[in-house]
Formats: sequence, C-alpha cells, structure tokens
Amino acid sequence: MFAVHLLSFYFSKLQEDQIRKVDRFLYAMRLSDDQLVDISARFRAGMEKGLSSESNATAAVKMLPTHVLSTPDGSEKGEFLALDLGGSKFKVLQVKVSENGKRRVEMESETYPIPEELLNGRGTEMFDHVAESLKDFLQKKHINQKRKALGFTFSFPCGQSKIDEGVLLSWSKNYKARGVLGTNVVQSLRQAIDRVGGTNVDVLALVNDTVGTMMTCGYDDQRCEVGVIIGTGTNACYMEELRHIDLVEGDEGRMCINTEWGAFGDDGALDDFITHFDREIDAASTNPGKQLFEKMVSGMYMGELVRLILLKMAKKGLLFDGRVSNALRTKGKFQTKHITLIEQYKDGLKNTREILTELGLSPSADDCLAVQHVSTIVSFRSANLCAAALAAILTRIRENRKLKSLRITVGVDGTVYRTHPQYPKRLHKVVRRLVPECHVRFVLSESGSSKGAAMVTAVAQRLAAQRRE
Ligand code: GLC
Repeated sequence: MFAVHLLSFYFSKLQEDQIRKVDRFLYAMRLSDDQLVDISARFRAGMEKGLSSESNATAAVKMLPTHVLSTPDGSEKGEFLALDLGGSKFKVLQVKVSENGKRRVEMESETYPIPEELLNGRGTEMFDHVAESLKDFLQKKHINQKRKALGFTFSFPCGQSKIDEGVLLSWSKNYKARGVLGTNVVQSLRQAIDRVGGTNVDVLALVNDTVGTMMTCGYDDQRCEVGVIIGTGTNACYMEELRHIDLVEGDEGRMCINTEWGAFGDDGALDDFITHFDREIDAASTNPGKQLFEKMVSGMYMGELVRLILLKMAKKGLLFDGRVSNALRTKGKFQTKHITLIEQYKDGLKNTREILTELGLSPSADDCLAVQHVSTIVSFRSANLCAAALAAILTRIRENRKLKSLRITVGVDGTVYRTHPQYPKRLHKVVRRLVPECHVRFVLSESGSSKGAAMVTAVAQRLAAQRRE
C-alpha cells in the first residue's frame, strides 16, 4: 500500500516536473491578467487610430465601415442566394426567410472545393470558379429562373463606400490570387457571372464573415451587436456610433464596423508579446509582417506553432530523448485539428500518443504529457488574446452608450471555436474576468454567416426597390 502511494507520489512529481519544464520553456506565451489588460488597452488605442480620419491611413487595425446600419428586426423576408468565400470551405447557399413573421429560415447549401492553384492563380479564374459553382448549385437544386438577390460573404478586408461594393485591401490566410488587390470584388463577381452565363442573379451585398455571423445571431437575439470569428483566420465586428466614424457622413445612429483585428500588431504594437516562434511562423507565411495577431490566434497557424515548439524542444533534448522525425521537421504536418484532439477531456493523452506516433516519433508517457501541455499553452494564449481584444470592444460599446453595465450578446463562429473542446469556456471566462461590468452572452452561430448575409441582402433589396420607386 505504502509502495503504491510512494509510486503515485513519485509519478505525480514527475508529471509536475514535466509541466514545469514546459511552463519554463514557454513562459512568454503564458499571459497574466495584467498583461491582458495591457494588450486590451493597446487594442483599444488601435481601434481609435483606425476610426479617426487623420490616422486611418497608417492604422494597423483598419476599422472598416460596412454600411450595415442595423441588426435584423424580423421584417426581412424573401428567397436569397448566398456565396461564402474565404473561410475553411467555399459554400453556395439558398436562404429562405419566412414571410409570415414567424422568423423561420430554411437553408440549403453545397460545399465546393477550391483547388489550391486557384488561390494563387489569376483572380479572374477564381471568380469564374465561384460563378460556375453557383450555376451548378442552381441547376442541381432546380432553383427556378426568377431573378434572385445574392449576398456575397467575402472574408477579407475590403474598403466599402456602399453595401454592394468592396475594394480588396489585402489578402490574408492562404489566399493570394493575382489582379484582385485594389479592385472591386463585387464587380469581379458580377463580371464572372456574366462570363459564365446562364444564371439570373443580382449581387446586392458584400458582407464580411464577422458581419454575417453577427447578423445570423442577431436574427434570434436583438442584443447581438458583436460578431467574432475564430477559425482559419480571426476577426471581429461590432456596432459603432456613426458620429465616431470619420470615414462616413452622418451622426445619427450606428453602423457595423469590421475591425480586421487580425492585423493588430502589424505596426509593432505587440512587439514585446511576439515570441520567436511567432516570428518564425510569420517569416514562412505568404504575407510576412501582416496579420500578426491572427498568426498568434487562428486555426491556420496554431498547429504550426505547436510543431515549431516541439521541434525546438526535441532539438534541445527536452522531448523525445532528443530525437526528431522527418514529419516533425515538415511544415504543415501538425495541424490545429491535432490540438483539438490532444486537448479532448477523456481521450486527450491517448490521442496525443497516436498523433506523435503517426509523426514518426516514439513518445514516452512524459513526452505525451508535455506535448499536451504545449498544446494547452498555445490554444490558451489564443483564447486569452481574443478575450483581451474583445474586452476592448465591449468596453468601447459600454462607454459609447454611457452605461455603467452593459448587457450584450456576442455571436461567434469559426472552426477553432466550434471544435476545440475547451476553447469557448476559456474565452468566456477570461472575458468575464476582464470586463466584469459587461454581462455577455456568447452564442455560437449554428448556421454560419450566410443567414446573416441574407438578412443584409434583404435590407439592400428593400432599399434598392425604394430607390426605384
Ligand atoms: C481574416 C480576414 C477577415 C476575416 C477573418 C476570418 O482575418 O482578413 O476579413 O473576417 O480572416 O475569416
């Protein structure tokens, strides 16, 4: 009995040592609340810089006006088409919003692969593919030829001077198609639809995925005035007072601002929090120096961060008996979906062993524990950073409205938030700790961002009809 006790004591001591070893190695990624408050304040300053006409041109956080003036009020109705480009999947959808005031929405969708070469090829080819997929969808679903309004969810930073226009400011994630930067993507889509022929649609609205998410959740919850994506990329939007938006005329009411928070830090604002692993990720990316916050947070990079850490630790003899495998040396072999498996409540350690073995390594029990802890530190940092930025947005909204306490709903979507077993819980907890005066309800957007894109399209259609009258 005594021996068993001693053994388990010895064992847990060893485990503790493992955890401590990782903690020491990754101390720069473990952020305290004081540091998060500091990051939050820096983001707040970044938001202000982006909103002001004097500093917007050089601002890292672009704070883009979206020309969406209100969240859904239930009066939206009709049948719409939606395209969703720029997330982990490209989708074409039909969205039917019930006409009898019952707030019923029916959706049908189809996912189309986007071949890798189209992401790096000519823009016209990419838009042709989008238009062909739309045509295929209409045929497959036998959608009648009556002219349909279409909302385009395009998840990249676009300068919008109206709802059906968007000039691409920069590519992010793994997109890099040529000839699109600085051009109006709505026009490119319309031209591609004409080239492909055979579809009878009106592209009426361009919507960022954050905006689509906010509007999707806003359809069921009037308090939803913030949209967040934590997926392949990361970003947020929220309802800002028009009087604070220098780039848009008018002082009354509110407009949704697409913050493009992924670019936070591109001006050096996060330099003292950026580790050499983050620098390595950035240097090997398609857009070095850009989207630095996104590279610390989102699903496209988290797995790779863990791989770089494990490689370094192994080379230093801190893991796998100092041995590394070819797979561990190869970019992209360890993905964020692996982090999700490694951090599963019950099967986490078993999954860790399987994943490492798959990577050609022979991990000991201690190695598995250490790797699990590395994953936790990386994914926790991501949630912490998002919480800090979100806290800044919530505080800004509260102060805008001169409220002591704010009751608000945040609509969230994205593969990381959706699939990581512990991510949502951690994010919620940290946000509540950072801004106790905000009573936040988090809602996962069950149906993605396209339902919201349809709501925006419905309003655009109504306004266009009024203009014609
Ligand atoms: C990238 C894009 C942004 C988008 C986000 C999430 O950060 O720049 O527009 O919202 O990814 O998809």
